[in-house]
Amino acid sequence: KQDEDQLIIDAGQKQFGAMACSSCGMVYSADNPDDNFQHTQFHQRFFDSIKFVGWKKERVVAEFWDGKIILVLPDDRKYAIKKAEDVRCIVDNELGFQQVALSRPTQAKTYLYINTEHMVVGCLVAEPLRQAYRVLEQPDQHKDMTKDDFMERHRAWCCSTIPEQALCGISRIWVFSLARRQGIATRMLDTVRSTFMYGSHLTKEEIAFSDPTPDGRLFATKYCNT
Ligand code: ACO
Ligand code: ZN
Repeated sequence: KQDEDQLIIDAGQKQFGAMACSSCGMVYSADNPDDNFQHTQFHQRFFDSIKFVGWKKERVVAEFWDGKIILVLPDDRKYAIKKAEDVRCIVDNELGFQQVALSRPTQAKTYLYINTEHMVVGCLVAEPLRQAYRVLEQPDQHKDMTKDDFMERHRAWCCSTIPEQALCGISRIWVFSLARRQGIATRMLDTVRSTFMYGSHLTKEEIAFSDPTPDGRLFATKYCNT
């Protein structure tokens, strides 16, 4: 009996103190020692994964005042592949993907945005496509829904059923939480369009987003209409 009561109290506290770390995004309870420990570990792993020390050979495809974009290709050196994979793990974890394999790993191109503090603050994985489905405009009447509701209800039909010619599929796009709304995703996509296919510049219509999240839809809708 006593144990049961204790459990309930613990569960209540856990809910009460739940918070999300603003940099690694993990939701945990600050007053629970186990949770705190797990957060510390995850937080460390997160920052290890996005730390970028610099490589002897870097394929820099764009440079900006606040950073640069490097491209990692499937045949690159092991250290480059490893970094791209580590970052992709962080991204997949945040997107809630569970070990989703790349659809065509031998052709996937990973773009990493490196800021001036040597951190990977953006990641974009692009893959060649034959056809795709256009992302539909987001209906306005659902503004009051929570993010989760929105995901549940809209994931399935977020794309039109008419296949269109698209040449490049964006299977993942992610920007570090503290670096969002600074145009990093926009600049990564612009860079993909000019470098994905050698010798040609892709139009916005030739780019397709796979299975977008609510954030992804808002961004994609804005990007494609401007
Ligand atoms: N809410 C509303 N509008 C948005 C949002 C948002 N969350 N994000 C972008 N936009 C729109 C805005 O109009 C913005 O311009 P503004 O800031 O001048 O208003 C415009 O898009 C350009 O935004 P950027 O600054 O270029 O986008 P950012 O660098 O912040 O990255 C991204 C956007 C990648 C979606 C980021 O929010 C993120 O990483 N989210 C979490 C991961 C995620 O959901 N990724 C998409 C998965 S879908 C897929 O991978 C295919
Ligand atoms: Zn954290």
